[in-house]
Amino acid sequence: MSGLIRLRGFIQAMTRLADAEADERRWLTEGAELLQGLIAQDDWLPEAMAEAGPTYRQYLLHCDPAERFCVVSFVWGPGQRTPIHNHTVWGLVGMLRGEEVSTEMQPNPAGGPMLPGRVDRLRPGEVVPVSADTYDIHVVENAFADRTSISIHCYGGNIGAVARSVFDPATGEQRRFISGYHNTALPNLWDRSRELAA
Ligand SMILES: [Fe+2]
Repeated sequence: MSGLIRLRGFIQAMTRLADAEADERRWLTEGAELLQGLIAQDDWLPEAMAEAGPTYRQYLLHCDPAERFCVVSFVWGPGQRTPIHNHTVWGLVGMLRGEEVSTEMQPNPAGGPMLPGRVDRLRPGEVVPVSADTYDIHVVENAFADRTSISIHCYGGNIGAVARSVFDPATGEQRRFISGYHNTALPNLWDRSRELAA
């Protein structure tokens, strides 16, 4: 349970930021610091939200009741990758376990294949932002072919229910995408009985 206390504290701090009506700049600085604190230790993610599947998994850990932000565990099995996709809201990606590579992709002004941009390799403890204004389209892949990698993401909305896009790498053609989540149950952050008994 001690690990879940850390997740609960993070969610409470993020909720305070939402209550303060933080703008994107604050989310991407203060929120990033909070996420960095959360992923500094890898002892809190429930097993069920760390399991790889036949494709990458997206497990909801928490959604703010007013859908101002959400917290999601992304699990990449060996060699797995996302399609090229956008977000349309701010996001924070924090590496918990293993490593991943994010490659920014841009539409080709001349048409044809999309153009790769910045490449970030994330190592445990590192956090990078995504922003609808400056960095919104990318492809993410497990940096390893022989083990699972896991990152913890926060977004400025209920990302599984946001209508966004995936892109055809060869043509840049855009297709509507609503990702959903792979889990139906959330971690129980609110059983304080052990803390109270201690
Ligand atoms: Fe993404």
